[in-house]
Amino acid sequence: DDLYGDERRNSHGFNVRNTDDLELIENARGPFKNQQWHLKPVIVAKKASGETVTVKNPSLPDDTVGTIQFCTAKDVDKAIASAAIWTASPQERAAVLNKAGDLYEEHFGELFALLAREAGKTALDAIAELREAVDFLRYYAARALELKNPPRGTITCISPWNFPLAIFTGQLSAALAAGNSVLAKPAETTSLVAVRATQLLHEAGVPASALQLLPGEGRTIGAALTGHKDINGVCFTGSTATAQSINRNMAENMSPSAPLIAETGGLNAMIVDSTALPEQAIRDIVASAFQSAGQRCSALRVLYLQDDIADSFLKMLYGTMDAQVVADPWEFKADLGPVIDEKAKATIEAHIETARSEGRLLKQITCPEVGIFVAPAVLSLSSILDLKQEIFGPVLHVVRFHANELDQVLRDINATGFGLTCGLHSRIDDRVEYVTQRLNIGNMYVNRNQIGAVVGTQPFGGEGLSGTGPKAGGPYYVPRFAMADAMTLSA
Ligand code: NAD
Ligand code: ALA
Repeated sequence: DDLYGDERRNSHGFNVRNTDDLELIENARGPFKNQQWHLKPVIVAKKASGETVTVKNPSLPDDTVGTIQFCTAKDVDKAIASAAIWTASPQERAAVLNKAGDLYEEHFGELFALLAREAGKTALDAIAELREAVDFLRYYAARALELKNPPRGTITCISPWNFPLAIFTGQLSAALAAGNSVLAKPAETTSLVAVRATQLLHEAGVPASALQLLPGEGRTIGAALTGHKDINGVCFTGSTATAQSINRNMAENMSPSAPLIAETGGLNAMIVDSTALPEQAIRDIVASAFQSAGQRCSALRVLYLQDDIADSFLKMLYGTMDAQVVADPWEFKADLGPVIDEKAKATIEAHIETARSEGRLLKQITCPEVGIFVAPAVLSLSSILDLKQEIFGPVLHVVRFHANELDQVLRDINATGFGLTCGLHSRIDDRVEYVTQRLNIGNMYVNRNQIGAVVGTQPFGGEGLSGTGPKAGGPYYVPRFAMADAMTLSA
């Protein structure tokens, strides 16, 4: 079909390099189209005591992907008691993490199928996620060789559903690279891919007592995982509200020296001035706002368009949106897949409906009626400060600004308190310098899209409400999982 050589799709940045890649993927994922996975926690105690839940494909209500047994707080306590740091040398740890990278690649088809059927990932997203997960393993393996300080002990790693392989793998491989024992808790909706990844890590040589996987509900086992005196640090990626509640739990129950590494949400803006190159800016706006159905912490939420180009840009944007395909990700033609669950769909659609009732709905395209899809929408807004929360879906807000209001725009973006990503499209070098110097943003992207930070070259993490640092995929991440040296402690 049109993916095999169509210019339009290539110009959307589809991440499959050539037709051979597509055929390889098709062959690899083929056997897993109808497979069901019936999986359990991966814990030293072997048996868990929680209930077993069914996992459904968010695109196809009749497609049962499998079942997963959850853990209880009692299972968490047993896992903490049986955790043991990884005593292998840094060289051995690095070799095992690299081997895990090889195994991920060997199991590309199965992991691809799980990302598509369990997490609703499009081919573009699933491939990028697989590559990012392998990059994390290899990058942190290399960092293990540079590390001089001992591990902290037992680290809890809690991951979100929107990067159920890449962020899941990134967190635990950094903690393992430093020699810690890891208790990993995946998001409720994406446990199956996490179990398969954990099994591959064990197959590569990570000891059972150094990596245990505890699927379960945050509200049931989260407190036990983040409020125990024998946990020596927590690595969390998810919403700001959950990070704050974990922070309180840790403060009340854990040693003050146990770090919380939190990567959280954002209210991300892009500023497009009248010197922007339209074709490039439109492509980057669409990718930033709608790829992954907007379910990225880095995604563009509020587009600031300079008023004298706004009308022509919006016309081009709407035309580009009309060419977007919202569909089951098993179809390679899908640009956007489903959202993760009915609750997310209801929240996003209620937000769109409010805007519609207030006359602020500028554009909406269609989506399938069956499956948990949301029709991508563009809404008008007066200021980013009118957006009270992160809308985690395919919704772009547009604010028009006049050239002499740029300072106010920058003040408003900073005033949200979030600081994850920001985009800027401008061909005036002084303005690029002016804007980037004034924003409190973790990852600033100039004249490109603002998603898909690359491990090792674009360390990723936010300021303010968006995270505690250090940045994932950067040189300071793995050292945070090791004991601080005397110089740091006294500073
Ligand atoms: P979430 O906060 O609801 O859940 C994240 C994880 O925390 C899940 O595993 C969940 O089970 C667990 N959890 C929930 N309550 C808990 C508790 N009381 N104690 C311990 N753990 C608990 O977030 P989500 O909906 O899964 O993910 C979407 C959010 O994640 C968005 O806000 C997004 O911006 C953010 N995110 C941030 C980054 C980043 O790198 N900054 C990356 C991806 C996602
Ligand atoms: N690291 C992911 C991105 O940059 C969240 O989009």
